[in-house]
Amino acid sequence: MFPAGSRALRRALPNPIRSRAATRTIPLNQFLKIRCSPFHTTISLLGKKPAAERDNQHSKASSSSSDGGSYARTDESITVEYPSEGTLPSSQPVSGAGLAGGKLVPTLASLSLKGKVAVVTGGARGLGLVMGQGIVVSGADLAIVDLNKGEASKQAKLIIESIKQNNPGIQRLPRVTAHYADVSDPESVSSCITEVLGEHGKIDSLVTSAGFTENFEAIKYPIDRMRKLWGVNVDGTYLFATAVARHLMERKAKGSMVFIGSMSGSIVNVPQPQAPYNAAKAAVRHLAASLSVEWAKAGIRVNCISPGYMLTALTQKILDDNPDLKQQWTSLIPQGRMGSPEDLMGPVTFLLSDAASYVTGADLRVDGGYTVT
Ligand SMILES: NC(=O)c1ccc[n+]([C@@H]2O[C@H](COP(=O)([O-])OP(=O)(O)OC[C@H]3O[C@@H](n4cnc5c(N)ncnc54)[C@H](O)[C@@H]3O)[C@@H](O)[C@H]2O)c1
Repeated sequence: MFPAGSRALRRALPNPIRSRAATRTIPLNQFLKIRCSPFHTTISLLGKKPAAERDNQHSKASSSSSDGGSYARTDESITVEYPSEGTLPSSQPVSGAGLAGGKLVPTLASLSLKGKVAVVTGGARGLGLVMGQGIVVSGADLAIVDLNKGEASKQAKLIIESIKQNNPGIQRLPRVTAHYADVSDPESVSSCITEVLGEHGKIDSLVTSAGFTENFEAIKYPIDRMRKLWGVNVDGTYLFATAVARHLMERKAKGSMVFIGSMSGSIVNVPQPQAPYNAAKAAVRHLAASLSVEWAKAGIRVNCISPGYMLTALTQKILDDNPDLKQQWTSLIPQGRMGSPEDLMGPVTFLLSDAASYVTGADLRVDGGYTVT
């Protein structure tokens, strides 16, 4: 049996019956018939159709094999340009996340980030913001780095407020600071690192979440936008990682880095076309692997987290503009839902912590099972 909505079933089924098949389970013997005779099964599964419609479907099925496989293809009509600053809503801190050590919740001491200073790029919004909050809740001080310093400052205050509210009587409040950087610009990165070191004295951990995606079919992707996309996703990761590694090596200190890639670095998303983004995230994943080898002798671990479809203000906007996408995306996720930013709090904390001392060069996919089907 192929479960309703499974990718194996969708791939095997002729196009006209797919949408129905997504809502029902088809026995294997019936499925085998479908494979052998698409036209015959279209009729037997969907019931009788008017002769004209049948003929039309038959000629479609036999005249063009291009109908088959359409659920596994990109759709050039989907075009999404990354929105300009100020068009997305601001976030609220996650509530009820606890504070490691502040409450009597048993957990491994090695998972604590107490005493560490972490930098999160792209930390003013979306996944970076929630991962940053998870890092603070796990005991570290945090430097939020973002193009949007105003939002970073606002979120730094909100994180402190939520720690105070959730942990009355807390002895030491974490230090959370906000800093401007354009991660794709070497000078901006260098002055940001100097500023962070001026305020925190050291950096132990780095999460590179600054990055973005856009959707254009490849033959129409404006080259300046593509260069910017790679500049932020790839150069930005490289520039921050090497700057933090230099600092750690000078200090002769161990450190841990997590690059935020994407499952798009390993698979090709459908139906939205985004070849340059996919290639950029493949580069991020392999950069993590390559640097993990180069810096192992310095005690610096480098791992990648590859999220699947996560519901953030940005993805919500994309879904608002393309209402059919959510159903298409979730139908491909074994867990049957998009991820929430909170789903990354544990993975990033684990990889930054001493509990992951022997984990380096790994790619941790947090995708609800998307990439294993
Ligand atoms: N949201 C998803 O479904 C998803 C899935 C997989 C991977 N990712 C990756 O996760 C990361 C975060 O995505 P998000 O959904 O939170 O995006 P987002 O747009 O909500 O947040 C990105 C943050 O990065 C900042 N930023 C953008 N360009 C910058 C630059 N040049 N310098 C410094 N900061 C910059 C933005 O101001 C913003 O605060 C990205 O790398 C993205 O590719 C997201």
